[in-house]
Amino acid sequence: MKTKFDGIFPSKSEIDKKYLLDFPFLQSEYLIDGEIHSWDGDFEKVYSPIYIEEQDSYNNYIGDYPLMDEKTAISALNAAVNAYNNGQGEWPKMTVEQRIGCLRKFVLHMKEQRDIVVKFLMWEIGKNLKDSEKEFDRTIDYIIDTIDALKDLDRNSSRFTIEQGIIAQIKRAPLGVVLCMGPFNYPLNETFTTLIPALIMGNTIIFKPPKLGVLLHSPLLVAFKKSFPKGVVNIVYGEGQKVIAPLMESGKINVLAFIGSCKVADILKKQHPYPHLLKTVLGLEAKNPAIILSDAIIEDTVKECIAGALSYNGQRCTALKMLFVHESIHENFIEVFVNEVEKLTLGMPWEDNVNITPLPEPDKSEYLTGLINDAIKHGAKICNSSGGISNKSLFSPTVLTNVNQNMRIYHEEQFGPVVPIVSFKDIQEPLDYVIQSNYGQQASIFGEDYNSISFLVDTLVNQVCRVNINSQCQRGPDVFPFTGRKDSAEGTLSISDALRVFSIRSLVALKENDLNKKILTEILKNKSSNFLSTDFIL
Ligand code: G3H
Repeated sequence: MKTKFDGIFPSKSEIDKKYLLDFPFLQSEYLIDGEIHSWDGDFEKVYSPIYIEEQDSYNNYIGDYPLMDEKTAISALNAAVNAYNNGQGEWPKMTVEQRIGCLRKFVLHMKEQRDIVVKFLMWEIGKNLKDSEKEFDRTIDYIIDTIDALKDLDRNSSRFTIEQGIIAQIKRAPLGVVLCMGPFNYPLNETFTTLIPALIMGNTIIFKPPKLGVLLHSPLLVAFKKSFPKGVVNIVYGEGQKVIAPLMESGKINVLAFIGSCKVADILKKQHPYPHLLKTVLGLEAKNPAIILSDAIIEDTVKECIAGALSYNGQRCTALKMLFVHESIHENFIEVFVNEVEKLTLGMPWEDNVNITPLPEPDKSEYLTGLINDAIKHGAKICNSSGGISNKSLFSPTVLTNVNQNMRIYHEEQFGPVVPIVSFKDIQEPLDYVIQSNYGQQASIFGEDYNSISFLVDTLVNQVCRVNINSQCQRGPDVFPFTGRKDSAEGTLSISDALRVFSIRSLVALKENDLNKKILTEILKNKSSNFLSTDFIL
């Protein structure tokens, strides 16, 4: 029998040349201490989630990147430590305006690389063309908005305060060396949502690309080199145990900015010998529920839940990972939902209107199949005709009903195209789910009655950090705070919050007497300090 998967992976000649790259791509260059070096040690092979059909087989090998050793990782650390130089380095002592100048230069160089970065996003993590372009453009916007937010912050602190006979200027100062590690699902955007604010606040950076989504950073090495003083941005590649453990164990990392699993975050935190010196900014796991009330408008709710649960194949930390539907509309909801799911198009990332694309994590199809089989064993039912079917890295979206708490899918973050649905009678059932969950990022409520919605809002805001009404969960707009409770996050990342997270308030205070007034006047008149300044950045 012919399935929708037959012939789905293309041969090279079937792919429009504009989406191809010169594979295999050998990335031997790396940036440490302002120099682009050439790596001559071991390499890690990169396999794409996209398989290319060849004569009697398939090929998905697309490149290599350096598998660095401990010695090289330590040289990146030393470069960042020296560039910071206990706050005496060129970068941490620069004026805000000068740092903004460097970042503007970076944006210009980065924009030149849009086309190639977008292609790498498609080939390395299987993100569709539209979303890959969006990831790049959103990152550029994030940088520009960060510059504007910093200008605001600096303008607000350019004045002096006089309190109880003490004159003070209160500003924000950097924290030191920041280690940034982003996730595979937003390898560019989420890495940069920590790297950029950390950088612009005067910290020096070591960043390690995620395990999947590495090559896409290579076109940006030159942009970093050309835009920032040496040692301010350093990049390491390789196995965490070899290249990250020694950095953490050195005790010289001041901030860990990590987006990924709780398990890895815990390992990294424990490796640091001085827990009070280390500040952590973590974006972790989530299992955001949608609570669909009896008066929800079914068509609109289905549309929003499909986008929430299945965009980028459900591989978003904010994805809707559990749907609770009131029993009175359950049957009707499932019928419309399944109908819409079956209309989704599976294919390669560059194909028009494609919805479901290959999954980049190795063995992900096996993991999802295991989750589904476990659910079926405990009474769940696959209710869409193409549910549960997979071919290599492509996994057909699967709708599971009759889900209950004995199933792994009820608790585990599936991070893939499987949608578990629970029918509820009493509103306390979904609330108990949220209360008992290890996670606390966001929730969505769908319905019309303002009294029922108010009741849920007042409970949910104390359990999660964003409650969405008649809309899916999401991070954006990026000016909104993005955080979570319990195992979902540590620290808050909005454009303005991130500037605060990667800096600390520091002030200069003087008793209000003639000598001090004279000193202050001279400092300001001669612009002899970069910190003490009333300059207003336009
Ligand atoms: O993976 C988690 C992302 O921060 C989600 O962002 O809601 O904009 O897709 P998004």
